[in-house]
Amino acid sequence: MNSQSSYVNIQKEWDIVGARHVARDLAKSLGFGTVDQARIATAVSELARNIYLYAKNGQVHFEKIESMERKGLRIKAMDSGPGIGDIGEVMQDGFSTSGGLGAGLPGVKRLMDDFVIKSELGEGTTIIANKWVRQ
Ligand SMILES: Nc1ncnc2c1ncn2[C@@H]1O[C@H](COP(=O)(O)OP(=O)(O)OP(=O)(O)O)[C@@H](O)[C@H]1O
Ligand SMILES: [Mg+2]
Repeated sequence: MNSQSSYVNIQKEWDIVGARHVARDLAKSLGFGTVDQARIATAVSELARNIYLYAKNGQVHFEKIESMERKGLRIKAMDSGPGIGDIGEVMQDGFSTSGGLGAGLPGVKRLMDDFVIKSELGEGTTIIANKWVRQ
């Protein structure tokens, strides 16, 4: 990361692949091991795919996070799509409004260390997920 943050626009299906590659490269440059690089890349790919499917377009932002004793990567997936009415419902394994597996969001939560959804019907959705480098 040249500066401390960057982002990828999600508009076309191919942008999902682009976001996945950016995520893996950033994770590698921050010192994550190969397993965590794959976890982060998968999480970003799921979030980008949800933006593409449900909101049509949005962005995935990447930010280096640092505290006294650790560093990591923050992913922020943002869109101005239809929003999510019941967050508890979409976090259940197997819940899907599109005939998907309904594994995306619960999967992202498991793959990352911290996970927060903010969403308002008709306003859009913001999902923030952090991963910390293992010492
Ligand atoms: N950015 C979003 N905007 C609006 N609704 C969303 C968004 N992301 C997820 N959802 C809703 O949450 C549901 C669950 O998402 P999740 O990614 O867990 O499963 P899925 O996309 O349906 O299937 P899978 O990801 O397993 O292929 C979706 O079916 C959709 O209704
Ligand atoms: Mg999904």
